[in-house]
Amino acid sequence: NITHVVLTGGVGSRLWPLSRKTQPKQYLELFDGKSLFEMTVERNKTIADKVLIVGNIDNYHLSREVMEKFDISHSYIVESTPRNTAAAIAFAAFQSHPDDILIVTPSDHIIEGELPYKQTLHRAIELANKNFLVTFGIKPTKPETGYGYIEFEGENVLAFHEKPNFEKANLFLEKGNYYWNSGMFCFKAGLYLAELKKQEIEVYNKSKIAWESSVSGQLDYDLSLQIPSISVDYAVMERSKNIKVVPSHFEWSDLGSFESVYDYLVQTGHPVDAGGNIVIGTNTFTSFVGVENCLLVHTQDALLVLQKESSQDVKQVYQKLELID
Ligand code: GDD
Ligand code: MG
Repeated sequence: NITHVVLTGGVGSRLWPLSRKTQPKQYLELFDGKSLFEMTVERNKTIADKVLIVGNIDNYHLSREVMEKFDISHSYIVESTPRNTAAAIAFAAFQSHPDDILIVTPSDHIIEGELPYKQTLHRAIELANKNFLVTFGIKPTKPETGYGYIEFEGENVLAFHEKPNFEKANLFLEKGNYYWNSGMFCFKAGLYLAELKKQEIEVYNKSKIAWESSVSGQLDYDLSLQIPSISVDYAVMERSKNIKVVPSHFEWSDLGSFESVYDYLVQTGHPVDAGGNIVIGTNTFTSFVGVENCLLVHTQDALLVLQKESSQDVKQVYQKLELID
């Protein structure tokens, strides 16, 4: 059995004000009336037998609306508070048979190329069946510090480095045998749990307790709060010796920050001025003088001006506003 596990936990705080608590970016119908969430389910529907959606209560309602469009067996795990990806994937694994293959994907990536995607997934499933934790390698194009890097030799993984600093990222690009981690994974449910237990036993134990006392897929708040918040990348991928990487030939873009939104828009023909400045969300005539590589983002009730290189810092604006948003 193959299960597509869709993670839909985050709000996308680095994309404020486009992405809001009530309308996370993966549900914005930005692409011919389709959202990234819908496209994620669609892309995997012929590969997996069923879909398991792990997310918070707001995203649960938004997901249900979208899932009505599909004729595919699906279920939900509803988190009462976000405990990060190591735990979110653990819930999905506890819910599955140990031999089930899980294809874990975020719901907020742009992927193009149906055939290369399927070919890559088929190779990943073969390796997962041979008891490996499988990652997907994307050829890096710049020293991005918001991603994980996979040091590789063929399909073997020499090391996994989550979110390196700029100097290290630069070095990785120079060396050449490093991929970006796509943020998707493929493995047997039982193997993931065994590795989690080995590498981060408290996350394993506390996630198990929370999952075992869940009621109709809904997790208890107090028990969830006990789970250490750590991502799968730090908890398992950086430490496990059991990892493989499948080089991925599909087009991949993580619209995680305004820098990647910028790159995507410019590549797909969005207007950009001589200084490399762009405007998102308004037709008001806008002129940039004496500044370069800036984005102006305009929504109904907010205005953001930022230097492209500072994209990772937008999170801080969101964090400050979270109290009043
Ligand atoms: N259900 C659930 N619960 N989902 C969550 C939670 C949670 O508590 N926390 C995060 N997620 C979801 C996010 O919505 C997103 O779809 C995915 O898990 C990954 O989380 P991010 O917060 O977006 O991670 P990241 O972008 O910093 O880093 C990851 O993705 C990069 C590529 O986009 C890592 O895997 C990196 O190594 C990778 O390069
Ligand atoms: Mg992300």
